[in-house]
Amino acid sequence: MANTERAARESAFWCVVPAAGRGTRFGAGVPKQYLPLAGKPLLLCTLERLAAHPRIAGLMVALAADDAHWPGTVSLHGKPVLTCHGGGERADSVLAGLRALDGRMSHDDFVLVHDAARPCVRAEDVSRLIELGIAAGGALLAAPLRDTLKRADAQGFSIATEPREARWRALTPQLFRHGALVAALEATQAAGVVVTDEAMAMERAGHRPLLVEGAESNIKVTTPADMALAEFLLGREC
Ligand code: CTP
Ligand code: MG
Repeated sequence: MANTERAARESAFWCVVPAAGRGTRFGAGVPKQYLPLAGKPLLLCTLERLAAHPRIAGLMVALAADDAHWPGTVSLHGKPVLTCHGGGERADSVLAGLRALDGRMSHDDFVLVHDAARPCVRAEDVSRLIELGIAAGGALLAAPLRDTLKRADAQGFSIATEPREARWRALTPQLFRHGALVAALEATQAAGVVVTDEAMAMERAGHRPLLVEGAESNIKVTTPADMALAEFLLGREC
């Protein structure tokens, strides 16, 4: 086992939390991350859950430049909570968060990225992602597709049934080495390609992230119905 891998197996990791979105599909007056969930803003539910994890060292939250709702939190569960300005796309916000961590970690250190909009992530899934992800050199939580998959034509009619085997839905957190992830995201930015998760940027750079199966309850709150589901899931501890 290389020295860097041995060190990583024992250490705790920073987590970048992109929270600079506008919640357009949710359609509320305020961005969805500030809507109440189980008695507090959704974003705080997510941050508390992450900070409570023993393998997480601190949080770097990417906020919209005009964010008027951030409560000014500086620590949770004794872990530092830092903020930076996000960007126009999710990937820009993640890259801003990674750059803001530049002085705090080396190129080879692993870093996590987790959507602010996923408040129901389970601690045991984070633990498994870290354990398997370090050994694999990079990984993401994901869920195998369960439904039958249809291809639609332009009129919305089903014209084919796609194979479901080997199809996964990407979740977060995702775990990669800081330097490699920054390079991969910079390359996609330079190419004008919008990536919707970190693994997509890493794949484009020639990496092969490990898919670590995570709970389906790790939903991304996108619509009001998702918020009701998240409330239910948190109530039964996900
Ligand atoms: N995000 C971000 N910066 C952006 C866009 C999104 O940090 N420019 C964050 C969101 O705050 C969210 C996560 O990325 O935590 C996933 O994005 P999504 O669910 O699409 O949230 P929004 O972009 O806010 O929602 P919508 O696409 O409906 O506007
Ligand atoms: Mg979005």
